[in-house]
Amino acid sequence: MTKIIAISGSLRVRSFNTAMLKAAQQLFPENIVMGSIEEIPLYNEDVEAEQGIPPAVDTLKNLIADANGLMIATPEYNNSMPGVLKNATDWLTRPPSDMARVFHDKPVAVMGATPGGFGTVLAQNSLLPLLRTLKTRPWFEGRLMVSRAHTLVDDEGRISDEEALKRLEHFVSGFISFCAD
Ligand code: FNR
Repeated sequence: MTKIIAISGSLRVRSFNTAMLKAAQQLFPENIVMGSIEEIPLYNEDVEAEQGIPPAVDTLKNLIADANGLMIATPEYNNSMPGVLKNATDWLTRPPSDMARVFHDKPVAVMGATPGGFGTVLAQNSLLPLLRTLKTRPWFEGRLMVSRAHTLVDDEGRISDEEALKRLEHFVSGFISFCAD
């Protein structure tokens, strides 16, 4: 069974990006496992030297290493990815000797949701140098840029818009096929 670890770049409880991943998990419960960057501290090389890799980082590294693919849902902050997502990625690449185990040749899909009109296109682009540096295998076939996200959720913050769910299903199923190859 193809396993995909899904990571949201938002810490917000009613995050649209997290809501997209939860909807993906409901659509593909056998394939999607949720990871979290919530407990990851700010990267500090002194902390790493003195205390090593934090448990939350270790856990997430192992989840990524064991998965067939990684799916990131990124918010857009100031036309880029949020700092918490970049910070998490920096920790996840430590120590460098472990980078290959976690990231090399790992299929990666990027999506994003925003209340704005441009669907996180610039945040998604800002991830490209990371995906290259980490020597991942980015999936470029599908693109999922979700605009006006606040109009696509129900009162509980779940994605309820039929068209959005259809686009999500198409995107995730395409990525699952890519990971299974
Ligand atoms: C934003 N937001 C935003 N949206 C966008 O489409 N382009 C942008 O450049 C920005 N910039 C930005 C900067 C900062 C500091 C904040 C706090 C917000 C709005 C953002 O898309 C919105 O808050 C989303 O709801 C964040 O994603 P989650 O938390 O819902 O997943």
